[in-house]
Amino acid sequence: METTSLLRFLFVVLSGLLVLLFTRSWFHLPYTPSEKVELLDCNSFSPWCTSKNRIHSNPNLLPNTQRPKSQSHISETPHHPLDPLTIQEINKVRSILLTYAPFTSSPFTIHSLVLQEPDKAVVLRWKKGNPLPPRRASVIAILGGRSHILTVDLESGTVTDDEISSASGYPTMTIEDMTMATFAPLSDPAFNRTVQDRGVALADLACLPISLGWFGKKEDGRRLIKVQCYSTEGTANFYMRPIEGLTVVIDMDTKEVVEITDRGRDIPIPKSENTDYRYAAVQNERLWMKPLNPISMEQPKGPSFTIEDGHTVKWANWQFHLKPDPRAGVIISQANVRDSETGDLRNVMYKGFSTELFVPYMDPTDAWYFKTYMDAGEYGFGLQAMPLDPLNDCPRHSHYMDAVFAAADGKPYVRSNMICVFERYAGEIGWRHAESPITGMDIREVRPKVTLVVRMAASVANYDYIVDWEFQTDGLVRIKVGLSGILMVKGTPYENLNQVPDHEEMYGTILSENVIGVIHDHYITFYLDMDIDGSDNSFVKVNLERQDTSPEESPRRSYLKAKRNVAKTEKDAQIKLKLSEPTEFHVINPSKRTRVGNPVGYKVVSAGTAASLLDPQDPPQLRGAFTNNQIWVTPYNRSEEWAGGLFVYQSKGEDTLAVWSERNRPIENKDIVVWYTLGFHHIPCQEDYPIMPTVSSSFDLKPVNFFESNPILRVPPNLEKDLPVCAAAASS
Ligand SMILES: *[C@@H]1O[C@H](CO)[C@@H](O)[C@H](O)[C@H]1NC(C)=O
Ligand SMILES: *[C@@H]1O[C@H](CO)[C@@H](O)[C@H](O)[C@H]1NC(C)=O
Repeated sequence: METTSLLRFLFVVLSGLLVLLFTRSWFHLPYTPSEKVELLDCNSFSPWCTSKNRIHSNPNLLPNTQRPKSQSHISETPHHPLDPLTIQEINKVRSILLTYAPFTSSPFTIHSLVLQEPDKAVVLRWKKGNPLPPRRASVIAILGGRSHILTVDLESGTVTDDEISSASGYPTMTIEDMTMATFAPLSDPAFNRTVQDRGVALADLACLPISLGWFGKKEDGRRLIKVQCYSTEGTANFYMRPIEGLTVVIDMDTKEVVEITDRGRDIPIPKSENTDYRYAAVQNERLWMKPLNPISMEQPKGPSFTIEDGHTVKWANWQFHLKPDPRAGVIISQANVRDSETGDLRNVMYKGFSTELFVPYMDPTDAWYFKTYMDAGEYGFGLQAMPLDPLNDCPRHSHYMDAVFAAADGKPYVRSNMICVFERYAGEIGWRHAESPITGMDIREVRPKVTLVVRMAASVANYDYIVDWEFQTDGLVRIKVGLSGILMVKGTPYENLNQVPDHEEMYGTILSENVIGVIHDHYITFYLDMDIDGSDNSFVKVNLERQDTSPEESPRRSYLKAKRNVAKTEKDAQIKLKLSEPTEFHVINPSKRTRVGNPVGYKVVSAGTAASLLDPQDPPQLRGAFTNNQIWVTPYNRSEEWAGGLFVYQSKGEDTLAVWSERNRPIENKDIVVWYTLGFHHIPCQEDYPIMPTVSSSFDLKPVNFFESNPILRVPPNLEKDLPVCAAAASS
């Protein structure tokens, strides 16, 4: 499709958004190292980004302090071995590739271009002030239908490694793949006809690129995608207006329509009334609640954290390296906490990030069975993280971090405000005790809890995932995932539950006239390379077990006993959580003990979570087999980072965490990685319509005999004199 019609269609897809942008081409914004730099800034130019309809998309509308810093990235240089590739480095990688033999003659697409992190030992040895270890890039590119995994050495300017993947799957889609897929059906007259026959003007069409998983031969040998469409007529929330049963299979490389399935012509397109969620669309409607007075957190002396050299965060007793990643979203590295007794900076975690998501829908019918998304490996969890909205996504005094990513042509672009860092005081209590008057002691000792939050929010088409890493001064780290955004819904002929025949399977809940919210699960798996006071650690299951007393021993008949079981090999650490078998999961350093002899450690503490109930042999579950257990522990291996495999798209599941763990390698007193899966079952309800209030869950990494005593014993309480009094401004 030529550029002008592409643009026109985009205009349609974006439902009339940002008309001004259409005067210039979106693709190939001029950028060569010698020219005056004009970056592809995701705030304003990329179609995928503008489709998110962010209110603050015009940088000139932002207050000075929040203005994206795109221009300042151009001269950026790396300061830390783990710092992401800079604009100049990405450009250099691209120019090296352009002179590398197979890449000089044939067109290629870059599916991933990121820093190849130096060996862990090298990073651990590195100190600020030392020269940086050699900078290298890991590149995944498709050339002539084959996936190349390349290492590019920036210093020598050469490609030092070029391996062709033999895995069943394909690399993460590019934004360009996804954008192309949404237009491709229009080349087919049958598609145009059926859309129009259903009463939808082609001008009102919005289409979504849907990864199709792998179910057998049909998905072998070519990169395919399914496209389904919606009507934008009368609403920005087109997701609530599905053209049900119309599925178009597109070949992502040839851009051909491979197949059209056109079922459900009798299913009406749900109405547009009451679907819009934008404030502009609803603000004139009656709000049946007393509006809140303005509220915000005050920091009269500014925040207490600093960010050194762009990526090293220092706050209270914590220090860690933070960077955006196109696939993982946020990567936290070298998280270290200062000891409350000795003042030493102690290792807790070498690296932590969300490694994969798995979102299977529970509807086996033709237009739905394949919806089993793996949002990191298929779509790029970080690529989908949109700029955060100051004051609403993150509070005042937040620090915003931009990402520099590579587009499909290898050129860098800036995703501004992708991550925010802020301190949170939410009225919580750090610790307390009050003495009752019966003791005659008038004691009230309370400490407020202030935490540091690192946040990103990914909008994977309809759904929004908010990922928080929250650091506490008592050493606890809470990893929290919030789900919001818009349900993926199914059209139905029924307007009311009373019309649905008794035994008819709906696969979900009727949410509005002709709209069904289909039941689905969400799993987010985290990679946690724990290094408790060094790399060699053990994983210990501390099982609480009932002990029965003998008749004469005690008036009690039973009590609970903590039994420690050190996991020797991987299979000992394949954990399914059970309420009836309470267990703590400790990562300890067996060669380091506290004053009184306990091994120092951190424990993984789960909160509400969910386990997959699908048949383990169901093709989606084979691909998502990393959710078969809630916890796994593997020996550190730098090639095992992505729980669903390096090449997830259309993969058969032969390279997942579940497969690696079956090797049953030794894990005792070794450098180990803990994998934790946070899960949600979602049976939609009417409150989720037309947009969902956030649902969250979390898990904690909590010190267990890591400190000699309460590490926040000596922190001071809040006093009136230290806090400003901000009264409502008098009208002057
Ligand atoms: C389908 O409709 C679109 C939008 O009107 C148009 O650009 C395209 O050429 C049509 N396709 C065919 C095959 O007629
Ligand atoms: C490291 O991981 C790769 C990929 O799973 C595997 O081929 C290799 O055997 C692993 N090495 C060890 C020592 O387990």
